[in-house]
Amino acid sequence: MESPFRADILKGKVALLTGGGSGIGYEISYQLGKHGASVAIMGRRKHVLDSAVSTLRSHGIPAIGIEGDVRNRDDAVRAVESTIQQFGRLDILVNAAAGNFLVPAEDLSPNAFRTVIDIDSVGTFTMCHAALKYLKKGGQGKDSSSGGMIINISATLHYTASWYQIHVSAAKAAVDSITRSLALEWGTDYDIRVNGIAPGPIADTTGASKLAPEEILSKVKEAPLFKFGEKWDIAMAALYLASDAGKYVNGTTLVVDGGEWLSKPRNLPKDAVQQLSRIAERRSREAPVGVPKSKL
Ligand code: COA
Repeated sequence: MESPFRADILKGKVALLTGGGSGIGYEISYQLGKHGASVAIMGRRKHVLDSAVSTLRSHGIPAIGIEGDVRNRDDAVRAVESTIQQFGRLDILVNAAAGNFLVPAEDLSPNAFRTVIDIDSVGTFTMCHAALKYLKKGGQGKDSSSGGMIINISATLHYTASWYQIHVSAAKAAVDSITRSLALEWGTDYDIRVNGIAPGPIADTTGASKLAPEEILSKVKEAPLFKFGEKWDIAMAALYLASDAGKYVNGTTLVVDGGEWLSKPRNLPKDAVQQLSRIAERRSREAPVGVPKSKL
């Protein structure tokens, strides 16, 4: 789909993306690049990074790949420093690296719980912490009046409760909290905007293949708001937040899910409600329930 944004809205900007070699992270890398940014993508798998970098470059986007794991502080620092070495500045950090799998809480080992917290929550903070000195106003390549920005990819799992996702729900709740705290502290002190995006189910991603495999999906398709979004939807939200279009947005997590998290399976068809509700109302006025008989 065509982007509604001007092609040069990120001209001269440099972005570093964790998990930027595939799925949502790759699409954001691509769209930031198509709108003028140079991009550094960090990930654990060299062959995935190599292929993503060569595709980005084939579209004329200046890109590098950096092998590393967000759980490792040294890798985080190296990713930030490599970005600076290559492009001379850092304006946008996108934390898209995440871990996930479906498992009932009783079958989840504490180590498995910790693994996802380490990737999603601690990894996000580690990257933010390593990038601060370049993102803040007056950082390399910036003047002393404006800073960069951070986007943390979150989820909606923890807004209610989600089956078999206790580890990721806890991890993403922490991510949202990190987003708000850094928006407050670093927004005030360093003019850095920190926001999040909470995607719904997005087609053609590892998340979708792990969390909504066809065997499970066929059982939930009838839920009224359940439909897949596209990676493009998330990338457009990232462009809005990363560009001046979002210059007054700080500390928010933008839900991009078609309203999916609000949905519960409909238990009555609409026309049945329209017929029955009036009848029930009339009946309750004629004979209120729970009122002592002597008062009627
Ligand atoms: N059910 C239950 N436990 C599981 C599991 C599953 N499906 N998959 C992994 N685990 C457990 C492991 O058994 C281990 O716990 P243990 O030491 O108590 O046995 C723990 O999780 C860590 O697994 P390990 O394979 O050592 O970790 P890893 O660092 O190699 O991989 C994951 C991390 C598990 C999160 C892996 O799925 C991953 O790398 N994911 C990244 C991609 C991704 O999930 N993207 C989707 C984003 S929505």
